[in-house]
Amino acid sequence: MRHFPAFLDLTGRAAPGVGEGGTRGAPLADRFKAAARAALPGLAARRRSADAALTGPAADLAIAGRAAGAAFADARRGAETRLTGVVHLVGAGPGATDLLTLRALRLLGEADVVVYDRLVGEGVLDLARRGAERVFVGKARANHCVPQGEINALIVRLAREGKRVVRLKGGDPFVFGRGGEELEACRAAGVACEVVPGVTAALACAAATGIPLTHRDRARTVTFATGHTRDGRLYLDFAALARPGQTLAVYMGVTTLAALRDGLVAAGLPAGTPAALVERGGTDAQRVLRGTLNSVVARAPVWHTCGPALLLVGDVAAQAEEERLAA
Ligand SMILES: C[S@@+](CC[C@H](N)C(=O)[O-])C[C@H]1O[C@@H](n2cnc3c(N)ncnc32)[C@H](O)[C@@H]1O
Repeated sequence: MRHFPAFLDLTGRAAPGVGEGGTRGAPLADRFKAAARAALPGLAARRRSADAALTGPAADLAIAGRAAGAAFADARRGAETRLTGVVHLVGAGPGATDLLTLRALRLLGEADVVVYDRLVGEGVLDLARRGAERVFVGKARANHCVPQGEINALIVRLAREGKRVVRLKGGDPFVFGRGGEELEACRAAGVACEVVPGVTAALACAAATGIPLTHRDRARTVTFATGHTRDGRLYLDFAALARPGQTLAVYMGVTTLAALRDGLVAAGLPAGTPAALVERGGTDAQRVLRGTLNSVVARAPVWHTCGPALLLVGDVAAQAEEERLAA
């Protein structure tokens, strides 16, 4: 990844310790800086146009030692196309910094503002551009989430101000992340929006516990379900969830585990079906409670601390346990 600040600063000087690319890029940046200052009023717009110029074909030409003039013309074109704001809905993964995608890392390094959730890991946030504004929307005063409508309005407004907005969400934006609503809000407002997938909790928990979500003999279907209630009720198709030969991954279910178990058992799933509750999966602080659907649900209230947790139910959970005992 070549990124503007890695080899030049805004004055056009090569950054300390950079090699030939920076030295050759410096005259280009000098010329670019003068023209950009004349054409663009704000520092943010100038930085963006510099990024566009110095991370694209212009930088390639400069680093290749080709005429800076040709590169500069290209830089101007690039700058003109990138002056409007954009929203990137970025999946931050389960919390572990090294489970971030390379694309997410690049966008964080280019962000003007990062709007982030409660589940985004500290280490991930530290990867944002040093000067980027950070806006926390996970919990506000009195421990209430910022309403979704306000978050939608916020990211649209920031993009309309010409900013590059990274809307950072735990896991994947499109898995119980309300990313769909934010994408719709951007589209309705005519704001460009890109979605960058992240490692969702079910994948991280499965990998970190050795519980495969699918298995040739034990699970030919995997279902992601939410344990979140509306009007105090679980709106789940228990008959479908109780079918054999599948793995169930339940998000946001810690407080409704008993109701979930009762619904599944009433629909025919044996209470002795293997299960695991994974707290802070995929991070250094991961904890796992293994057992059956019944035993896990019974022990969870005492066992669970306050971290995000995911319930995995299905024969695949027994496989991991058998392997663990054998080891
Ligand atoms: C609002 S949902 C967000 C899901 C997220 N978009 C994703 O793709 O993982 C929050 C729920 O995700 C689950 N979750 C998120 N991170 C987790 C982690 N590291 N370990 C276990 N569960 C996690 C928990 O069930 C939590 O209540």
